[in-house]
Amino acid sequence: MTDPALRKPIKKAVFPVAGLGTRFLPATKAIPKEMLPIIDRPLIQYAVDEAREAGIEQLIFVTGRGKTAIVEHFDTAYELEATMSERDKSLDVLEPTRIQPGNLVTVRQQVPLGLGHAIWCARAIVGDEPFAIFLPDELMIGAPGCMKQMVEAYNQVGGNLISVLEVPEEEVSSYGVIAPGRRDGALTEVLGLVEKPKREDAPSNLIISGRYILQPEVMRVLENQGIGAGGEVQLTDAMSQMIGQQPFHAVTFAGKRYDCGNKTGFVEATLAVALERPDMRDEVRAIALRLLGV
Ligand code: UTP
Repeated sequence: MTDPALRKPIKKAVFPVAGLGTRFLPATKAIPKEMLPIIDRPLIQYAVDEAREAGIEQLIFVTGRGKTAIVEHFDTAYELEATMSERDKSLDVLEPTRIQPGNLVTVRQQVPLGLGHAIWCARAIVGDEPFAIFLPDELMIGAPGCMKQMVEAYNQVGGNLISVLEVPEEEVSSYGVIAPGRRDGALTEVLGLVEKPKREDAPSNLIISGRYILQPEVMRVLENQGIGAGGEVQLTDAMSQMIGQQPFHAVTFAGKRYDCGNKTGFVEATLAVALERPDMRDEVRAIALRLLGV
C-alpha cells in the first residue's frame, strides 16, 4: 500500500513555457511558441483544457522574456468583449480562456537553463504537494485526455507517473526511454530512464512524452543537481534519482501524440485536428486530396 502522503490529489500543474523555441524562428521571435495555433486554438489552450479536464485547479506558468502573450490570452479582454457584445456576437468562444481569479500564477525563469531548471523555478508555488507537468508543445489528443488517464492511474498507485508511448525501434534514439518492470494493462513499473540511447542499447521502445505527475521531493533533487547534457538542468536526471526512493510508473497513453515543437509534427497535428473537426473535415480532406493529386 502506497504511503498516503504519496497519494495527495493533483490540484496544481506547471507549464514550462520559457524555452526559446529556436526551431520555429523567425515565427517565434516575437510570439511564444506556445501561442502558435493549431487551427484556432493556441497550443497552450489545448494543454490547459487537458489540465482542467483532469481536475487541475491551479495553473503555474514558468515564463521568460517575450512570453506575456500567454498570460494575456488567459486574461479578460474587456474592449474585445464589449465590442463583440455590442455586435451581438457570442462570447462562448472565449469561455476556455477564462480562469478562476487566483488560479493562474506565473513565475519567471530568468535564464533558459533547461526543463529541469524551469520546473525548479516553480518550487515555492508547488510547495509540499504532488503536481502535474505539461509540455504544451506536445499535443496529446485522446478521450479522455492524457492527464485524465494519468490521474486515474495515480489514484490507484500514487507516487510518480510519466506518460509513455510506443515508437518503432529505429526512433528510440531521439527520445528518453524507460527501462520497464512489471506491466499491468496500461501501467508499467519504471526501473530506470535513459536519455537518447543507441537503438541496440535501448531498454524498451517506450518513450517519455510530455506529461508527468511528480511528488514535491523532485524539487530537492533538482536543487542539488548540476548542469547536465546540453548545458541544461535535465528533468530526466532528477526523475532517475527518484526511482527506487518512491513508486514510479509509466502510463501508456491511449491516444495520439503530436510533437508540435518541430515543423513536420506541427503540420501533422494541424491536419489531424482539422480532419477530426466536423466543421472542417470534408473541405480539408478534399483540399488535401487535390494537393496530392489523388
Ligand atoms: P524544448 O526542448 O522544446 O526547447 O523545451 P524550446 O526552447 O522550447 O524549443 P527549441 O528546441 O529551441 O525549438 C521543452 C519544453 O521546456 C520548456 C519549453 O518552453 C518547452 O515547453 N523550457 C525549455 C523551459 O521552460 N525552459 C528552458 O530552459 C528550456
